[in-house]
Amino acid sequence: MNNIFDSHAHYDSEAFDEDRKELVGSLPERGVCGVINCASDMASSLTSLELADEFDFVYAACGVHPHEAEKCLNGYLPVLKKLCSEEKCVAVGEIGLDYHYDFSPRDVQIKIFEQQIVLAKELDLPIIVHDREAHEDTMTLLKRYKPKGVIHCFSGSAEMAKEVLKLGMYIGLGGAVTFKNAKKPLEVAQMVPDDRLLIETDCPYMTPVPFRGQRCDSSFIPYTAEKLAEVMGTGAEEILDLTRKNANRLFKLEL
Ligand code: NI
Repeated sequence: MNNIFDSHAHYDSEAFDEDRKELVGSLPERGVCGVINCASDMASSLTSLELADEFDFVYAACGVHPHEAEKCLNGYLPVLKKLCSEEKCVAVGEIGLDYHYDFSPRDVQIKIFEQQIVLAKELDLPIIVHDREAHEDTMTLLKRYKPKGVIHCFSGSAEMAKEVLKLGMYIGLGGAVTFKNAKKPLEVAQMVPDDRLLIETDCPYMTPVPFRGQRCDSSFIPYTAEKLAEVMGTGAEEILDLTRKNANRLFKLEL
């Protein structure tokens, strides 16, 4: 078995400072065939590319997260464009809007998100979207620009998922589907077509049940797949197979 494609991980996180190389290096023997390491600012975009350089099965998404939008320096775009043009960068991400924490003012979040969507379109790259309690503004921008990509850790309703699918985008689901209060994402899982679902960890966060509280890594994905399989009426292996195929299609890879 080697069919775990983690479409959203943060191995650049300090949670992995102690054992990063050892841990990432051990993932293939634990069933992992592909990882997209998602950046949150310019520094982690570089770190993501470094990780991707070191490990064949790791690819990078470079971009500025809404939490960091306010810290973005003038003139960041040409630098980001250069990073996104690197061979192992396969997406612009993670980018989006977060109205739960509001760490950056909303108008700044929108501006930085919009600029990066335009960049992704210019480079013909998919985007990896973070949308927390900002569904309306996120959908407005996605409908305006119609980028390729995925909404990660999807937290919207089945109604919103329909709109996202209509735009041709993918839905990313992770450890949250195993949580007790996971009503909405499970409803979404039941209506997503087989060719539009991605699976992810968002590690070191979002550790699936029964390991909540522990540091997460890509090898925990089968627990998420098990839960998805249960509500989708199929098997965990099938979920891993189809999400692997979908990730390869979206990111133009053959892992
Ligand atoms: Ni993330």
